[in-house]
Amino acid sequence: MSEPKAIPRHVAIIMDGNGRWAELRHKERFYGHIQGVEAVRTTVKAAIRNGVRYVTLYAFSTENWGRPAEEVNALMELFCRSVENETPELKRQGVQVTMIGDRERFPSEVRESLQRIERETATGEALTLILALNYSSRSELTRAARILASRVAAGELDPQQIDEKTVSEALYTAPYPDPDLVIRTSGEMRLSNFLLWQSSYAELYFPEVLWPDFTEEEFDRALEAYAHRERRFGQIRKKQPGHPTPQAEKTS
Ligand code: FPP
Repeated sequence: MSEPKAIPRHVAIIMDGNGRWAELRHKERFYGHIQGVEAVRTTVKAAIRNGVRYVTLYAFSTENWGRPAEEVNALMELFCRSVENETPELKRQGVQVTMIGDRERFPSEVRESLQRIERETATGEALTLILALNYSSRSELTRAARILASRVAAGELDPQQIDEKTVSEALYTAPYPDPDLVIRTSGEMRLSNFLLWQSSYAELYFPEVLWPDFTEEEFDRALEAYAHRERRFGQIRKKQPGHPTPQAEKTS
């Protein structure tokens, strides 16, 4: 009997190319972000259809604050609007929306919208959609170092007890398994400060397509490529298909 096709449990996506997509059409960059929301909808549908359990989207990096104020403001409004508009459909699909990153820097309307969608979708069981907002790996790891140092200073933790598990537990991503597959659209081949610790053994996939053009077929192609990769986790034996990472059972 043939082995079942390996489906990644967690797919993380760097949604790149919105600006170029708009510029190619002689439109404002923001128009690309609006179309990007459509690609998010498509991705959620395709993930559920394929049985992917977690999707993380890099929606706003700590570096994105350096963009022109009008683009940052427009993105903030788009986040609020999308969250409000999409909540009913996400609930219907059984999607739980949650976020990683430092939300304190966001305007209060954005923080409230995010809180609302997290609360209203909390019981979703088909897919956990993790929005990385004001997120970067280096700031996450720096924050984790601070958390662990405080626990040591408080006498709760012996420095000798600090291991990969304690570090993982101090990250925003503590409740979630590591990504199995990281996709970055637009042909760029960088991780840009995204889930660096968590992606240690992830398969990487770099399609040429710009994010607003990312279709269900593109998602399926990424999964097909993943299914043909051999994941060895630094070992030599071929693993069974599925999700055999050491952290895969962190949560269900
Ligand atoms: C990168 O493309 C994209 C972003 C920085 C923003 C992504 C945001 C969305 C797609 C909206 C999603 C909304 C929700 C609610 C998740 P870029 O602007 O860097 O493109 P470029 O490299 O072509 O300039």
